[in-house]
Amino acid sequence: MKTNAFFLGKGGVGKTTMSAAFALSLARSGKRVLVVSLDPAHNLGDVLDAKLGDKPIQVEGGLYALEVDLSSWVKRYLDESREELRTTYSYNLTLNLDSFFDIMKYSPGTEEYAMLWAIENIRCNLAGDYDYVVYDTPPTALSLRFLAMPAISQLWIAELTKLRERILSKRSTITRINPTSPVASSCVDKKDDKVYGKLGSINRRLTDLSSLFGKESYIAVVLNPDVLSVSEAIRIKEELDRIKMPLSGLCLNKQGVSTSAWSIDKRLAAPPLFEFSFMKGGLHKRDDLGTIDTKALVADFLAAGTAEKGLA
Ligand SMILES: Nc1ncnc2c1ncn2[C@@H]1O[C@H](COP(=O)(O)OP(=O)(O)O)[C@@H](O)[C@H]1O
Ligand SMILES: [Mg+2]
Repeated sequence: MKTNAFFLGKGGVGKTTMSAAFALSLARSGKRVLVVSLDPAHNLGDVLDAKLGDKPIQVEGGLYALEVDLSSWVKRYLDESREELRTTYSYNLTLNLDSFFDIMKYSPGTEEYAMLWAIENIRCNLAGDYDYVVYDTPPTALSLRFLAMPAISQLWIAELTKLRERILSKRSTITRINPTSPVASSCVDKKDDKVYGKLGSINRRLTDLSSLFGKESYIAVVLNPDVLSVSEAIRIKEELDRIKMPLSGLCLNKQGVSTSAWSIDKRLAAPPLFEFSFMKGGLHKRDDLGTIDTKALVADFLAAGTAEKGLA
């Protein structure tokens, strides 16, 4: 069942506008909807005409919104990892954790993990209060990396789990041969091993996020009638294919904005295409979002949910 929607696309194509208009239209049809900005350069509040923060606030009727504070999630992720290492490896005093964490703060992947745990928090602690959660996403590169993160990390976890099993089995052999060895006092059983347990719990969290992205989300790509945004949409589609995430719909926004030549590529032929006119007068207030005709897109989203409910 699709209870989440993600709007991806090149900067400036209208992701924030489409997420807000889509969420508003669902809310005005009587649903409870949470719209979430994952873009560190937030402007969802400006588009919705509301002052937003890290907790949901009611914008109107059934529409609630929040802007994820990514820097606080990065800090939380680093603090939790530090604590975890401190307790798991308390015997290893040679490991200088503080310098390790100074490096980790700037390591590739830290922001993506922080983003994942922020989404997990919304899924586990907030989504239950709403019928649907709509995500306005950051620039393409970061979005594709966090969407790919669960699948990539699961490969790592699988290898680390095998390695840990080998360590435990070697410990057990040593203990059998020489019960007086220092290894004999360490853990040999998977069910008592903290590291093995931790790998299992991370794997469960990642599996849940994979299911959120791959099965429970309607992934829409927003593009404009221009060559650059079409190229970006093709890149997104190809990357989604690689990580086996279906592209649910294409939102061709700002139709009529210019007369320059462009064409939709055949690589984008499969998903349904929804067109949205360019509003010459601009979009200034929340009610202006109501003039964007999202009926067909909303119907497709709801049908995608029901089709899968029927199959379940
Ligand atoms: N259909 C539209 N008609 C007119 N202006 C639009 C339309 N969609 C978006 N815009 C304008 O384009 C600009 C970029 O939109 P935004 O939603 O912030 O893009 P993104 O989130 O993809 O960076 C904003 O000024 C917005 O008001
Ligand atoms: Mg935006």
